[in-house]
Amino acid sequence: MHSHISPNVAVDPSNPNMRPLDGPGQVLRVEKLRKTFRSGGQEITPLAGVSFSVQRGEMIAIVGPSGSGKSTLLHLLAALDTPTSGEVYFAGNSLWALTEENRAEYRNRTVGFVWQRHHLLSDFTSAENVAMPLLVQGQTQQQAIQAAARWLTEVGLRGRGLQHANQLSGGEQQRVAIARALVNQPALLLADEPTGDLDERNAVTVFELMRRLHESYHLTTVLATHNPWLAQRADRVLLLEHGQLTPLAADDLAQRRAPAPAGAATNISGERG
Ligand SMILES: Nc1ncnc2c1ncn2[C@@H]1O[C@H](COP(=O)(O)OP(=O)(O)OP(=O)(O)O)[C@@H](O)[C@H]1O
Ligand SMILES: [Mg+2]
Repeated sequence: MHSHISPNVAVDPSNPNMRPLDGPGQVLRVEKLRKTFRSGGQEITPLAGVSFSVQRGEMIAIVGPSGSGKSTLLHLLAALDTPTSGEVYFAGNSLWALTEENRAEYRNRTVGFVWQRHHLLSDFTSAENVAMPLLVQGQTQQQAIQAAARWLTEVGLRGRGLQHANQLSGGEQQRVAIARALVNQPALLLADEPTGDLDERNAVTVFELMRRLHESYHLTTVLATHNPWLAQRADRVLLLEHGQLTPLAADDLAQRRAPAPAGAATNISGERG
């Protein structure tokens, strides 16, 4: 399938042309994106006019010190927040030119989001957590739970659907969060420090899982991470620092990797993460 979408067409994820799953092409284009927060008489500008684009099928890692604006950027890509100025285009459509309804569709169906902390509902089972986006969309309980069971199998948690989210290990919780992000079969996967709270071994396993799903479901993925090992396994690395986004070559990434104190995760700026 090859889709050409005119910039005037609103995002309608139920239209297969709006789901850029196959072939080359630009999925995201970010232009002069600026975000300023004002709080307590202070102004912070984590994004001072950043521009980049993401091609269909790419996996991009955003690295940068704590507080540099990685989460802010991902929230804007997901249309969960509004920029001070600048644009994000998905398949040629400006996110903030869409109707509120289409923007909600984009958030709920085009984008799968894995949060910095997993944000699972602890009073619900893992299957219910994964099924939630489908129930919100009006699928029947039975359809949603069946789909959830398939996705739990896909992330290596077959048969664990009845377990409550708060009884799972950190790595398992993050797998459930990934299943929940993908249950709608989004075109775009956004992951904010998906392995930030995990030890190195679990971080690697969860990352490898994301990489496999990225490939088998023809996703386009943008992930924020402090972990240089994960970043260097993305197709491209962008460094966010002082409000600016710059491409980072593999050598630069290696140089920024400071030796870790025993038992501590190392982040991209060499601070403890
Ligand atoms: N809602 C808000 N109101 C005021 N300031 C905010 C808000 N959200 C973020 N900030 C500020 O913007 C800056 C960027 O924050 P952000 O959470 O995007 O950084 P980050 O790169 O994701 O950091 P970390 O690696 O610690 O997750 C920080 O200085 C933060 O305090
Ligand atoms: Mg963050």
